[in-house]
Amino acid sequence: MSTTILGIESSCDDTAAAVVRDGVLLSSVIANQDVHIQYGGVVPELASRAHQQNIVPVVDAALKKAGVQGNDIDAVAFTRGPGLLGSLLVGTSFAKGFALVRNIPLIEVHHLQAHILVHFIEQEGLSLPKPEFPFLCLLVSGGHSQIVLVRDHLEMEIIGKTIDDAAGEAFDKSAKLLGLPYPGGPFVDKLAKLGDETRFAFSKPRIPGLDYSFSGLKTSILYFLRDQQKLNPGFIEENKNDLCASIQKTIIDILMDKLIKAASDYGISRIALAGGVSANSGLRNRIESEAIKRNWDTFIPEFRFTTDNAAMIAITGYFKYGKKIFAPQNISPLARMEF
Ligand code: KG4
Ligand code: ZN
Repeated sequence: MSTTILGIESSCDDTAAAVVRDGVLLSSVIANQDVHIQYGGVVPELASRAHQQNIVPVVDAALKKAGVQGNDIDAVAFTRGPGLLGSLLVGTSFAKGFALVRNIPLIEVHHLQAHILVHFIEQEGLSLPKPEFPFLCLLVSGGHSQIVLVRDHLEMEIIGKTIDDAAGEAFDKSAKLLGLPYPGGPFVDKLAKLGDETRFAFSKPRIPGLDYSFSGLKTSILYFLRDQQKLNPGFIEENKNDLCASIQKTIIDILMDKLIKAASDYGISRIALAGGVSANSGLRNRIESEAIKRNWDTFIPEFRFTTDNAAMIAITGYFKYGKKIFAPQNISPLARMEF
């Protein structure tokens, strides 16, 4: 008998639904919310309203694309947290209703665990290598930066994390200082390709162990730009590419230093990337070059699975379904949520 899971993701500003059958992706649909661009960041109230508008058409489209009916679904997996509470409520309420009407199990999913499990999505006609356990995953998104020791699909331990900003925030806040649109990460990535990454040096944090810190970098960029603009008001425009390249290099250096330490401390050479920032071309290149130097086996997700999506929710739901880990109907979403 086959198992068909509907996954729903609504933790931030993307409304997404996906269908997975026996671990194989049948469809993945995402509605992005452009409404936030003009505000330079996600406005929580507007995000919840947009989710409310998008959720029915997005789920409909995912079912149609997968060629299944609502009644073919065996369980509904949804993002319980972490994320924006109002946004999570939309996906959670929809999932509850969908499960209740059909009398099928409800499965709660941790958004960050799901980002890591993209490495296990099967696709028709595509056979990508999957990491064997245990492996280390550098999980870098707009809200989180962590090094995770993955012992099994559902057994993970955070061994290092940011004590302030996430890597994605470091990209986005730096981009804002340079006058780039939100979210700035992809713009920095694009301009960095045209610049000299050795042109400017920014200070790196001295944090013990495997933890990260990015707030100092933002402050040092802010002061640097302020001082330079006093001397030359056109400084940013004239040096944008080199600034992007140098900022990106600093963020990648910070990420890689701790990842290399973690790999050596734990004696693990299977290294995976996940989360929105893993779309960054500089980070992807660096991890590949370190892999050659250090004999690592690396696992880098397809671009479409780096940022928020529901395929990752559905595949996590599939693993939980196998272990019969179901959620009750009175479950509530959590803005903050431990692993
Ligand atoms: O995982 P994600 O879609 O959402 C969260 O769960 O936070 O990550 C979004 C983050 C944003 O900060 C965005 O700027 C960053 O991922 N990002 C990038 C790139 N693409 C997305 N950062 C650097 N380079 C990129 N190419
Ligand atoms: Zn995410």
